[in-house]
Parts: sequence; structure tokens; C-alpha cells
Amino acid sequence: MKFAVLTGGGDCSGMNAFVRAIVRCSINIRPESSVWGVIDGWKGLIYNNYRKLDRLSVAGIASAGGTILGTVRVQELAENVSLQETIAQNLHDNHFDFLFVCGGNGSVKAANTINSIIRREGLRTKILVAPGSIDNDVVNNSGSSIGFYSALDKSLEMLEWIRDTASAHRRVYLIKSMGRDSAYLAFYAGIATGAEYVIRPNEEVDFDKIATMIDERDRDTRIIVAEGYEKSVNEIRVILENLFLKRDIHHEIRTVDMSYFQRGGSAAVTDILRASWVAFRMVKDAFQKCDSGFYTAFYTGHQFPVVPLEIAANDELTSHEDIPNDIIELALALQ
Ligand code: F6P
Repeated sequence: MKFAVLTGGGDCSGMNAFVRAIVRCSINIRPESSVWGVIDGWKGLIYNNYRKLDRLSVAGIASAGGTILGTVRVQELAENVSLQETIAQNLHDNHFDFLFVCGGNGSVKAANTINSIIRREGLRTKILVAPGSIDNDVVNNSGSSIGFYSALDKSLEMLEWIRDTASAHRRVYLIKSMGRDSAYLAFYAGIATGAEYVIRPNEEVDFDKIATMIDERDRDTRIIVAEGYEKSVNEIRVILENLFLKRDIHHEIRTVDMSYFQRGGSAAVTDILRASWVAFRMVKDAFQKCDSGFYTAFYTGHQFPVVPLEIAANDELTSHEDIPNDIIELALALQ
């Protein structure tokens, strides 16, 4: 069989472990198979940019951050039918039996759309997708995204560092976390480090209450602000400073942005192992001539069901961006 492997959307740690596992599992299980890396994500499928991968070309990359294949955003792909058709045809013309994807929300949607064109036109390629994103916003009731725990590790380290200065200067730090519309990264990092507050997307924030909480604290206060929240850290700073003036509260406020630092660096062991497990399942299923589908797992060895692509891509059915209630209760119980 002839396979293509692609990393899409925002890079994350664990993508390389996924690529390595696809290549090694394919060649070791069926030495006659071949695996081609798609260069620069979905853009590479538009321009037929591939590189043949062998055992050596993926040596030593499992823990490395980023992606050796590259991932370039093609914003217009979501709407541009002609680009979608080009990709479906290119996959067919290059005789790819399967395309393996590791990517986020946008990649799941692109894969589903292209898969529908392939089925409609009777073309050859099937598409298997694994979630790769620091946002943990893809079908996360069935498994967590590859890259999420790596980004949490980085966040935790940064949040512990900032505690030193916050405490030394009795300061308030407003700390921006990535995560697009999802609160997962911000909230889980907040639980792990014991942040005083995490502001989530769409939250009705009671700034007066936050000011009281800060006033009652002796030294450091770290407030994490999720990227999807409507106000920037600087806007929140102004709101709080005005409240401090009005209420005679004396605390300095600083802002800091963890964003792109959360995405890079070496992969967490749980992401390496889970990426390898999911890729192994994909390759084995591909050799059994399975259908297109979405693959995710909570842990290595988890016998997960495969989710049909059209369900994985449907936000109505799989929108789990809100933090579950019992996790919120956990955060409160730890305060
Ligand atoms: O999806 C991953 C992510 O890092 C989001 O958290 C963030 O909103 C977005 O990508 C940033 O994208 P870009 O790298 O294109 O600025």
C-alpha cells in the first residue's frame, strides 16, 4: 500500500512521534508498503509536495517539538471548493491508498470535506485523522489531543517561574494562555499550578469579586486569561486598576503572554506514547482496508472506538469546549 502522512494546523509537540510511528509501523508490518511525508501540511497536497520517508528519516525525532514535515496554514481551504477538489484529485492521481493526518479542528473539517469529495467522485484515497493540537478541542470526550499535555508541561513551568517574581514584588500577574475558543489549556494549567483564578471564554466575570480576592491576598496573585475570552489582558488590567483606585487597593499589575512558548519544546512522554499508539492502530486498520475515520485515545493501549469523520467534524455533536462541571469542582476544592 502507498501512504501519505500530513501534519496540519498549529504545530504541537507529539506530531513528530506520530509521523515516526506511521512510518515505522507501516514499513515494519508490511515492508512492501511506502510512506510519503506531505511537506507543509495541506499546502503540500495542493502543490504535490511529498518526500519519501524511510526508517532512518524519522530516527531520533519522537520527542522533538514542532513537525519535521512543516505545517503551513491555508485559510482559504475551508471555503474554496476548487482547492478541496484539487487535493482529492492529487491524492488519487498519486495512488495514495490512505492519508494519515495529525491536526486540530480545521484539519478534521478539511479531512471530512475532502473525504466527501473522494467518495462522491469514486476516487481512491481514504483519510484517517488523529487530533494534534494544544487546544484539546477535538472530540475530547473520546480522548485528549496529542500535544495538549506537552503544552501543559510548558505552561506549568512558566507559571511556576512567574510566581517567584509575583511573590517577591507582591504583584498581580495577568497571564495569557493560548487555546483558541477552548479553556482547556488555561484551566488545566491553572489547576496544576494553583493559580488564583482562570478567566474562561464566554465567562461573565465579576471583576469586583476578583479585586476583593486580590485585596485579601498577602503576596502573589496569578490570574490566567484564556485566549478565547473577549477582553485582552491589557483591557482586564485597566478594569482592575480602575477598581483598585476606587476601592483604595494597592497592588501593582503586570501582564505576560505564554502563548507561542506553550506550543514548542520537547514532547511530554504521554503525548509520545499516545501518538505512537494511535498511529499504530491507524496503520493496522489501513492494512485491513478500513474506512476513513477519526482516531483518538485517552491513554496508550486504550481500545477506543473509531469516530466517523462526519461526526468528528460536526461541532454540534462534538463541541466539548466547556470544562466539565466536576473538573470545575476539583479546581474549587483545591483552592
Ligand atoms: O490551534 C493552535 C493554536 O495555537 C491556537 O491555540 C491559537 O489560537 C492558534 O493556533 C494560533 O495560530 P497561529 O499560529 O496561526 O497564530
